[in-house]
Amino acid sequence: TAQAPKQPLTLKLCAPRGFCAGVSRAIQIVEQALERYGAPVYVRHEIVHNKYVVDSLKQKGAIFVDELDEIPETDAPVIFSAHGVPKKVPAAAASRGLFFLDATCPLVSKVHKETILHHRRGKEVVLIGHRGHPEVVGTMGQVPDGSVHLVETVEDARTFQPKSPEALAFTTQTTLSVDDTAEIIAVLTERFPDITAPHREDICYATTNRQAAVKAVAPTVDAMVVVGAPNSSNTQRLREVAERLGCKRSVLVQRADDIDAASFADFATIGISAGASAPEVLVEEIIDAFARHFDVTVETVVTAEESMVFGLPRELREGVEA
Ligand code: F3S
Repeated sequence: TAQAPKQPLTLKLCAPRGFCAGVSRAIQIVEQALERYGAPVYVRHEIVHNKYVVDSLKQKGAIFVDELDEIPETDAPVIFSAHGVPKKVPAAAASRGLFFLDATCPLVSKVHKETILHHRRGKEVVLIGHRGHPEVVGTMGQVPDGSVHLVETVEDARTFQPKSPEALAFTTQTTLSVDDTAEIIAVLTERFPDITAPHREDICYATTNRQAAVKAVAPTVDAMVVVGAPNSSNTQRLREVAERLGCKRSVLVQRADDIDAASFADFATIGISAGASAPEVLVEEIIDAFARHFDVTVETVVTAEESMVFGLPRELREGVEA
């Protein structure tokens, strides 16, 4: 008997999506370190928040640890993740004589520098971000404990009591919701008109562009599938943006196995995006999963072109002696 024809489904791919320049650089640092120095290389924390990426690097000889204490005496390089680390981490590595490479995204390092500068100028720093996220831990750890006040919500911004309201500055996590952060900043600047803002936005270009792409696509689709990890901040924000714009279903998926493609049968159009730490092969895998159940048409909606590339640390640049 002939098979029933598959139901049509349009997939709209948000562009840009997936890897940002900071994530590409961090993964390259681990790969190049493996090539140059051989396995193993140690990596403190998930290099980027993606299990597939971490597992692939493990297979090539990377060993992931939570803290430096877990690393034995070794000549092997130790790599710090893209999210950045508190100052005490490189200090501890240096005092143990470990050879370390810093994969902190340059746009996170920019926020570190701002935070340090404000602190040196005697300002109390308000950091807008999510408590416990490794980037927030790293940024707060640039200055002595108690010099940064974390603000997570509009409510926090309303109730926060600074030590001296005339000597305030704010910085932010790089992967926040553009809209929520604007609201928080509006409250802070209304309460503290003299608060110093970053010269250039701390929310990074990749976060901004991926959210804008989802915003453009979400109103034109029934559902949104965001590829990425639940502990990835920028990925969670993409899912949220689609939900707020009225997508009937907005889900985060790590691998094709996580979605029951047939359960999307009520929808005619689905948007697809991916967080900054999700490789494109995972997007392809999910498109294939839909194509097994539906007669799929794939469109790409481009809202920005990206050309950002970050150079590698000095030790890994060509021509530099190992
Ligand atoms: Fe850097 Fe932004 Fe990516 S801060 S790691 S470019 S999401």
